[in-house]
Order: sequence, then structure tokens, then C-alpha cells
Amino acid sequence: MFESARRRSAATTIKGTGAADETPLPGKLVDDLQINLIGRKNIGREIYHQLLQAIQEGRLESGMRLPPTRELARRLKVARTTVAVAYDRLVGEGLLESRIGAGTFVKRGVVSATTDARNLDSPLVPKEAWVGFPTSYVRKLFAGRFEFDFRTGFPDDAAFPYARWRRLMARQMRASNAPSGYGDPAGHPGLRAAIARHISLSRGMQIDPEEVTVTNGAQQALDLIAKVLIEKGDRVVVEDPGYPPAWLLFRTVGARVEPIPVDDEGLVVRALPPDTRLVYVTPSHQFPIGVTMSLERRSSLLEWARQTNAAIVEDDYDGEFRFGNRPLESLRALDPNGHVIYVGSFSKATLPSLRIGFVISPNSLTSAIRAAKHLSDWYTMWAVQGALADFIEEGWFARHLRKMRREYEERHNAILAGLDKHFQSLLKVTNSAVGLHVCATATELSPSDLHRVVTSAKEVGVDELAQYSAGQPVPGLLFGYGAIPTERIDEGLRRLRKSFV
Ligand SMILES: Cc1ncc(COP(=O)(O)O)c(C=O)c1O
Repeated sequence: MFESARRRSAATTIKGTGAADETPLPGKLVDDLQINLIGRKNIGREIYHQLLQAIQEGRLESGMRLPPTRELARRLKVARTTVAVAYDRLVGEGLLESRIGAGTFVKRGVVSATTDARNLDSPLVPKEAWVGFPTSYVRKLFAGRFEFDFRTGFPDDAAFPYARWRRLMARQMRASNAPSGYGDPAGHPGLRAAIARHISLSRGMQIDPEEVTVTNGAQQALDLIAKVLIEKGDRVVVEDPGYPPAWLLFRTVGARVEPIPVDDEGLVVRALPPDTRLVYVTPSHQFPIGVTMSLERRSSLLEWARQTNAAIVEDDYDGEFRFGNRPLESLRALDPNGHVIYVGSFSKATLPSLRIGFVISPNSLTSAIRAAKHLSDWYTMWAVQGALADFIEEGWFARHLRKMRREYEERHNAILAGLDKHFQSLLKVTNSAVGLHVCATATELSPSDLHRVVTSAKEVGVDELAQYSAGQPVPGLLFGYGAIPTERIDEGLRRLRKSFV
């Protein structure tokens, strides 16, 4: 597919017969077209892009004749088929035409893009809920490479069994494993059954595959729930600090989002307003503080929902990684009245890039959720669902979880030891033995002091608790350990400590 390294140094100016300032005559060879392949990797794609750009910028004008493929290939020192494929693609896109016996020409009527569409003043504006949307938070998630990466939200993707996954995906890419026509919006039946079994075993609740809808990550599950349950102006309660992608999403459907504080037993249930339509909670491992919601709080939240007829969304995003004591019953398992919608994700236990999550909904909502899934994107990529079903059913998932649980427990303990050693009087660690991050609140510093510290420790990537506050910012730091190996943890914390002076 790629040309050899020897050829990567080629650059050429395609010379034609006419002078550069003359109006091009039909059939005249292009003049002064630069194609530069020096240091480029995918030669074919490069030739295509440079020709495309030349057409769009008007350097290759309507009616001009391109050099024969053989000639251009010779000048660029690439295979003739590489040039032919680039020409064919532009022919297919309607920008070039080949005339038998005459050559390849820039198609007549092709108009160069003389205005920069990005700078056009347009009367089109988004709905109010999308104006001023805080994209800085989202950008931060993807930005940066850090020598010591303590950012939250990432599992150790290098530890994923890629070779096994490739084999499982290859098996799915056979006609016999594809759905006939379109797939079921509810999801791959094998995956729904595997999820139901996995959740029944790990979370102690009886789940029927009929209750499961597969989604593109937990995020889409929240989106579908919001679509089918929330009317404009409805009150939606979120934990504070909490998970911004959830509350930002609820706002976009017109909800009045109200942050309610979290203490060391989880969401403060007595602070809930009675006219609430929906409560979004992370009881297994409160995001981002890390506490587990106490059994008493769980009971009072369920009782409150029964009295007010509110919906509870239980987001169980990283409960697989629990070091030590058994998990408490999920809200869904404790709820006899059908108020809980359970959301799960494979982002932490496998890879976020697989984009697989699921929702377990009461019967009264399931068909609406599936209709919303259908109208949103029809269904989640079938082959990935099939491969994940096999990954679970053949025991690879359980094996991966066992391995990662050991690994993450080691990192978790290394972070606790490092925080104790370097930050004893500065940070107070939240008691938690679940998930992929540790939260520590600052005892004497303000959020802005912490921000200065974090910004000055450039080689250390660490999240500030304040960025997860919907109301009053809480001073603190989050130490994720999905992306940092155990042996780098102590040094990373020592470097961060140096910025505290
Ligand atoms: C609270 C919470 N819910 C859900 C998710 C996972 O979302 P998704 O499945 O869309 O990747 C995360 C990821 O960081 C999270 O922190």
C-alpha cells in the first residue's frame, strides 16, 4: 500500500507547455503544479489530496489536462497504479474526467472554492441550549501528553488483549455473522444475553436480556433516557461535584438542572426538591469524589422516588474494579417499584473506543428507549457487539477483569502510599476502594491556588476537582491510575509536590 522509503523523497513540479499567466486552453497540460512527497507516508493519499487541493484552490482549472499517469509516476518515482488510483478517485468524485485516447482532464464546470466557508457570516444559529456550550471541558479530556499521567477516565488501554480481540472481530466480519438487512435497535441478542448474565452475577440482580438495550457508551444511554423522559422545564437533579457530560446533556433537552451536594454517604437525599423528574446518581463509586452510597441513603432515595414518582438513573460506570469488600446492592436490585434505570458501560472494563454501554430499563420505558435508539442511529455497530458477546461468553472478559483488578489495586495502593508520603498535611484522601481514580480534597488551599499548582507542574497531568463542580467549586485533586504504571506513581507525586512549594 505504501511506496518504499526510497520514493518518499520525491517532489516534482508538473510543467506544461503554456505560460503561467495565460488563460488555460482546453486540453493544455497543467503548468507549475507542485506535488511534494518529501517525508510523506501514504503516497497515494498524498497525491490525491494535493491534486484535490489544487483543483479547489483553482490552480488546476476547468478543462486542464493532467499529465498521463505513466509520466507523473515517473517524475514522482512512484508506481503507476498509485497515480492511477488517485486519478480514479477524483474521477469518481466528479472532479476529473478521462477521455479515451485523449487523457485526464479537470472536469468542466468544476468551481474552485474561492470563499472560505469557515468565515461565512450565516444567519443559522444553534438552539439556545447549545449557545455558549462549555467545550473547554471536552477539549481538556483529549489534550496533552504527560510524563506522569494521572488524568481520570482512562483505563490502561495498552493492557487490553488486542490479539484476541482482532480474532473475535475477524470472526464477526463474515456474512454468516452479519444481521440480515438491518440489526435490531435493542442490540445483538448474544450481547444482550451476555450482559444480562454478567450483571446478574456481578451485581446480584436478576436481569432478563429483554430489559437490556445496547448503546454507544453510557453517554448514549443517558441521551436516550433524557429524550424519552424529560420535558422542557423539568427539574433534573445531579450530584455536586458530579459528571459534567450528564448534566450538560440534560440541559440540552431543556431540563432545569439542579446540583445537590454529596457527603461521605453519597447524595444528600433530604436536600432533594419534591418536584424532581429525574435524579442522576453514581452510587457504586460516586463520580468524582469516590464514596459509595450507604445502604441507608439508598433506601431513603428509593423511598423518596416512590413518594414523588421520580426516575432514578443509576450510572454504574466502573464498579467492576472493587478492591476488597463486596459491593452493596445496586439501587436497581433494591427497587421493587420500577423507578430505577440502570446504566452500564464497557469503557473502563475494556476500551472507551469500543463505545459500548447499555441501559436496563423498566418494561414501561423499554420500547420508547429502543424507538429513540432506532431514531438516533438505528443500532450500535454489529460486529463490535458480536465480538464483545464472544469476549464475555468465552471467558476472556472475566480473565481481563481479573488481571486488571490486580493491576489497578496495586496502582491504587501506590497512590495512597505516595499521597501519604508527599502530601500528608495538604491533601485529605477520600475513603474509597473502587474504580480508576482517587480523590483528595485540599485542606488549606483554594481551588485557584490548586489551579496555579497544577498548571505549573507541566509534566504531571492531574484533574482538578473544581472542574466537576456544578455549584460551589470544591478544592481538591483527582489522581487517575488507568494511564500511569505503578513504578511511575511515586516520582509523579513527588514532582507534583514540588510545585506546592
Ligand atoms: C460517571 C461516568 N459515567 C459514565 C462514564 C463512561 O461513559 P461512556 O460509556 O460513554 O464512555 C464515565 C467515564 O468516564 C463516567 O465517569
